[in-house]
Amino acid sequence: MDWRIERHALLDSTNDEARRRALAGEPEGLVVLAEAQRAGRGRRGRVWSSPPGGLYLSVLTRPDIPPRESGRLALAAGWAVAETVAQLGLAPALRWPNDVMLGPRKLAGVLCETHVGGDATTWAILGIGLNRAEQPELAGIGGISLSEALGRPVGEGEVLEPLLDNVRGALAQSQGDAAALAAAWSRFSTMLGNQVTYITTEGAMHGRAVRVRTDGALEVEVGGRRFVVTDPALVKLREVT
Ligand code: BTN
Repeated sequence: MDWRIERHALLDSTNDEARRRALAGEPEGLVVLAEAQRAGRGRRGRVWSSPPGGLYLSVLTRPDIPPRESGRLALAAGWAVAETVAQLGLAPALRWPNDVMLGPRKLAGVLCETHVGGDATTWAILGIGLNRAEQPELAGIGGISLSEALGRPVGEGEVLEPLLDNVRGALAQSQGDAAALAAAWSRFSTMLGNQVTYITTEGAMHGRAVRVRTDGALEVEVGGRRFVVTDPALVKLREVT
């Protein structure tokens, strides 16, 4: 896929702009990039603070993936960011489904939004927010930037092209060998194999995170039985005391 990169000094949200364009019939391959966002959005309706110095972009794709499998797009985007960070010499971890962590601090997040028509995924937007330059307020909210982690300034040029190359590869894999994508994602996971608490309507259950499926869901084993979890808010890593 060839990218058409569109750069804005300021947007409400790159995901919102990509959505407007998708609705107007824009073909896949559009990358909407903003130097800052007025209304950056995170998952679960949270605000994604977006001052200059971060990388804020949304990729528009029209993937050949059935809607029930569209969760794998989040895996693709999360893996692409983690791989890019690893290529810079850092050791990122993916917190399911797609938070990119350096130790306990969050470096990047992904907001995937899909649109379904009949039994097809008409379009999908992969929104990526990556803390690139140092921002004093990050420490207070448990965040970290690439510059802080590497101890030197990191320019956009160092990150954007490798990231988009990795997104291209991951999107191809998501429509080809999805099992390989899930395996690649899993290599960055610190959760798999570990004890987690899985919150259900009947209360908390303690189990082991076993694997991530190609549809992006997490399998948790509790007392010899496997449960499929689709909502990240229901799973917490159990604290080791
Ligand atoms: C999260 O961790 O909650 C996801 C954060 C995603 C933020 C990015 S920044 C670019 C794109 N535009 C948005 O409004 N959100 C995503």
